[in-house]
Amino acid sequence: MTNSQYLKAAVDAAHAAGTLLKQNFGRQLDVHKFEAHDIKLDLDVRSQELITGILLERFPDHAIYGEEGIAGKQDSPFQWIVDPIDGTVNFFYGIPHFCISIALRHEGKMILGVIFDPMRNELWEVEDGGQARLNGQPVRVSPRARLSDAVLSVGFAKSKASINTGLPMFEKMVVRVRKCRLMGSAALDLAYVATGRLDAYIESSVNLWDVAAGKLLVEAAGGCCELTPHPDQPDKLAIIATNGVLDLNVD
Ligand code: IPD
Ligand code: CA
Ligand code: CA
Repeated sequence: MTNSQYLKAAVDAAHAAGTLLKQNFGRQLDVHKFEAHDIKLDLDVRSQELITGILLERFPDHAIYGEEGIAGKQDSPFQWIVDPIDGTVNFFYGIPHFCISIALRHEGKMILGVIFDPMRNELWEVEDGGQARLNGQPVRVSPRARLSDAVLSVGFAKSKASINTGLPMFEKMVVRVRKCRLMGSAALDLAYVATGRLDAYIESSVNLWDVAAGKLLVEAAGGCCELTPHPDQPDKLAIIATNGVLDLNVD
């Protein structure tokens, strides 16, 4: 099996899920759960089932690790990391800014990533050691080095604790950068950093499925992406992604 077969499978799965999401955008949706700062849709699960079906049909020995659960052979050296809708709250409110994020890890190393925004028909793809591409064309991070020129996306996760950690960070940065944005999709934030639309993205608590594909993209596009596991919750990660020249360390 070659890496390009894995990449093709990820692209096919992202396209199939994108079609499902687009068909359902703006429609009445079944809600599994409303939380204070989150919503869980039946469509999150359906999108992951569709992706899982495509990937496991081609690679029945692989493992799936997704936001909506695990599947396949969990002892496989190949693990697909799936966020079937990144930006579910946007989706539910009719805000056309969300995506599908799929990455593949082999023996602990991320080897490819795909992020697909079905509303704009924008598909980012990257293989370890290769170029970051948007709809087939190479992309690069922005050259902006001054904070005062930068547009920074800040994410706020779902828990009160993560909001409380994120707020002082936001307060500090909002007065220093040209603009702060809260876009609502961690994976698209990373894809936008990789494309030079955003200069940086920070969030105090994300999950691997939010950022696995995007980290690879940002790095392949010339940027930096630092993930720091929380000491008490190692599956929660603080993330700082930049174009590689912007210094976010300010007093
Ligand atoms: C969320 C989005 C959001 C980020 C949250 C994520 P979801 O993912 O990426 O931008 O701030 O931390 O959990 O729940 O829409 O898949
Ligand atoms: Ca997500
Ligand atoms: Ca999700």
